[in-house]
This record gives sequence, structure tokens and C-alpha cells, in this order.
Amino acid sequence: MKLLIINGPNINMLGIREPDIYGTESYETLVKMITGRAEELSVSVVFFQSNHEGAIVDAIQQAYFDGTDGIIINPAAYTHTSIAIADALKAVDIPAVEVHISDVSKREAFRQISYVRECCLKTVMGEGLRGYITALDFLAGELK
Ligand code: DQA
Repeated sequence: MKLLIINGPNINMLGIREPDIYGTESYETLVKMITGRAEELSVSVVFFQSNHEGAIVDAIQQAYFDGTDGIIINPAAYTHTSIAIADALKAVDIPAVEVHISDVSKREAFRQISYVRECCLKTVMGEGLRGYITALDFLAGELK
């Protein structure tokens, strides 16, 4: 089973950006955490992080041609703005899970909108970096 883990803008700044909201662990730590759990589950994981909307659309399309079985995506700020990313998820029709480190439901009004939510099997939010593990366990279970 091959999963693609997509992270959007500023997720590469984890540990530096707003640590009171996103914590003190780095993106590299996040990658290590997910890789460790994926090994336990015998799942192969590929990571992609970009600050560019079109690059994320390209990565989602490429997942289709690479035979990717599932996608875990934190589109970050593009969650709230990007019809293009939502359309790409619909186009490839690969089972996907939306993750947010923070609990976006308790934050600013503009963060209440998610264009990708309806394209995903599940949304995990407010669990910090552990939310990616929740998403991984869920998706691996769904795809078994
Ligand atoms: C985020 C929440 C978004 O509103 C924000 O723009 C992010 C990160 C989260 O993981 O909590 O960059 O997706």
C-alpha cells in the first residue's frame, strides 16, 4: 500500500511558526513520526510539501499516474481558498483524509470553510502532529 502525505504552505515552518498553535516540533520530526508508524503498518509513504497551490495540484494528479492508494492532506491555508485542490482530489478519486494540526473549528470564521472536506473520507483536527498518525491508521485500515 502506497500513501502520499501532502502538506501545504508554511507546514515546512513547523516548530518556528506560531508554536503556541502548531507546537515546537519541526516538519522533519513530523516526517520521522509518520515514517515510523508507516513502517509498523508495512505501508509505504511518500512526502510532498509545497508553498504553491499549482504544485500541490500537480502532486495530486501525479499520484493517480503513480498508482498511489491513498492521500493524507493538510492543505494548510489553501484548505479555505482552493477550489483547484478540491477539484484535483475529485479528479483522481483517490481515498483521502484531511488533517489539521490545530482545531480549525474553534478559530477564525475564515478557517471554518474547507473546500477539500467533501472530497475526503474523514477530517482529523486539533490533535497536533498526532493527527497525522490518526489519519494514517484510519486510511491504512480503510484500504486493507
Ligand atoms: C492548518 C490550519 C490552517 O487554517 C492554517 O492556514 C495552516 C495550518 C492546521 O494544520 O491547523 O497553515 O491547516
